[in-house]
Order: sequence, then C-alpha cells, then structure tokens
Amino acid sequence: MQNFENFLLNNLPTSKSIHPTYEEALRKMLIAGGKRFRPALLLGVVNAYNPLLIGGAHHAAYAIELLHTYSLIHDDLPAMDNSPLRRGEPTLHVIFDEVTAILAGDALNTYSFEVLSNAPFSDYTRVELIRELATNGGLNGMVLGQAIDCYFENKPLSIEDVKILHTNKTAKLIAASLKMGAIIVGREKLGEKLYDFGIKLGLLFQIQDDILDVTLSSQEAGKLTNNDEAKNSFVTLLGLDSALKEANGLADELIVELNGFDEKLKNELSPLLTQYINRHK
Ligand code: IPE
Ligand code: IPE
Ligand code: MG
Ligand code: MG
Ligand code: MG
Repeated sequence: MQNFENFLLNNLPTSKSIHPTYEEALRKMLIAGGKRFRPALLLGVVNAYNPLLIGGAHHAAYAIELLHTYSLIHDDLPAMDNSPLRRGEPTLHVIFDEVTAILAGDALNTYSFEVLSNAPFSDYTRVELIRELATNGGLNGMVLGQAIDCYFENKPLSIEDVKILHTNKTAKLIAASLKMGAIIVGREKLGEKLYDFGIKLGLLFQIQDDILDVTLSSQEAGKLTNNDEAKNSFVTLLGLDSALKEANGLADELIVELNGFDEKLKNELSPLLTQYINRHK
C-alpha cells in the first residue's frame, strides 16, 4: 500500500485562494491516514487479474478514499456524532470551525468524482466507475444509511432494519470497492459476485466497528469510543456477546465464500480479510 500512499500524497487536493486554512482543512484528514481498507480491496482485485492496470487503479482507489474521508468528516460533526477525534487527530470542526469542516467534506466528495473523471481508462470504464461510486456512496447508499442512523437515535429498530442501516451506511461502499476493481479489469460478472460478498463483508465490518466502540479506548481507536449508546448497533440492541456471535458467524461464512474464489483472487484478498475479518477478536 506504500504506492497508494505516495499516489495520495502526490494528488492531494490543491486550492489557490485567499482563504488561510481551507487547503489545510482539505488535506488534514486524508494525510492523517486510516486503514485504507477500501482502496486495498479495489487494488487487490486489480492485482489478481491485471497488475498492469494498477497505476490507473490508484486513481479509482483514491476516489473511494476521498469519498470515505468526506463521510467521516461529516459523521464527526456536532449535528451527527459530535466527535472531537478522528484518525488520531482532532476533528476539523475542532481545529478550524464547523463551516470549514462541512465545506471540506463537500469539496472531498466532489473531488472524488473529478479524480474518477480524469482516470486513465476508456470513457465506458470511467462512466461505470463514476456510476458505481455515486450509487453506493450517495442518496441510496452511504448518505441514506447516515440519515437512518441519525434519525433513529434513541428509537430502537429491529435487527432486520439495523442490517439495512449498516448495509447502506457502510457495506455498500465496501462492496463497491471490490466491484470497481472488477470493472477496471473488465470482469463484470465477477463484479456482481464480489459485490454480494462485499455487502456481507461490510456488514461484518460495521458490526465490528460497533464492537470496537465498547471494547477500545478512544486513544486505541484514534476516534471517540463509547459514543454509540443512542445508536442502533448490534451491541446496543443485543449486547456484546450476541454481537460477537453474529460477527463470528459472518466471518465464518465469508471464509467459506473466499475459498470459492480463483486462487489469484484468494491470495490477494486473504491477507486483507484475515486482518479485518478477525479484528473484533
Ligand atoms: C470508519 O471506517 C467508519 C465506518 C464505516 C465504520 P474505517 O474504520 O474504515 O475508518 P478509517 O478509514 O480506518 O479511518
Ligand atoms: C459511520 O459509522 C459510517 C460512515 C458512513 C462514516 P460510525 O459513526 O459508527 O463510524 P465511526 O465509529 O464514527 O468511525
Ligand atoms: Mg455515525
Ligand atoms: Mg461516528
Ligand atoms: Mg462506529
């Protein structure tokens, strides 16, 4: 992933203006890091089927990370989760102000599509990638999930509805990361299969994130923890033990599905997945 980090540093958003802190705000959370899980999934699929396309794939991986980073900046705002810490750093509304945090998020959101529109692929591939990111990151994906998440604070949902919530706010972007890798290597059928796998993986990822909220300190997590009491999470609704059981069950199913993939794909994804599939343990 070192190449991805270099790509990101070489393609940070730039702005020339009289605003004294805007550019720093745009870059701060991107540079602060994070696990880069979504880029790693996309790059893993491309590496498995056509490593020659990895340079171009960095553009698409970066676009996903930009959109994801915008979602975190907005997620931390006082009107949403009201968190002072992200990726081990104070959040943008704390360092600067709320207006700057909102607008930095807006800028990273649109910049992600600018990056995709300039990616070195055919027009067809570029449009497919833009559609995939927009569909899963936008009004019927991550944004819808965040809307449900915030609206239903202190209003307990059924477990079925929490799965719908998690699928939208987290799983769709993770599924899109895998599918965008398949689009780049021209394997659309595989893309559908990977999308379904990614939805399950994303659901597990969010259940684990909910578990980490109650098992890690803010310092360990690099973000505010013990902050989900009002939320509809598996842990708040079912308790830690049942949440762990649900996560273990999903992890087992995913390992079986992974074993059904091509050898090359399995080799690329296994290290990523064992690292993340078991992160709640
Ligand atoms: C946090 O995502 C928000 C969720 C969807 C759970 P990550 O856990 O991938 O955050 P970073 O990118 O590593 O900071
Ligand atoms: C946020 O879920 C998912 C996003 C779309 C950003 P959380 O609110 O649980 O994420 P964290 O725990 O703050 O990273
Ligand atoms: Mg949230
Ligand atoms: Mg949050
Ligand atoms: Mg969380």
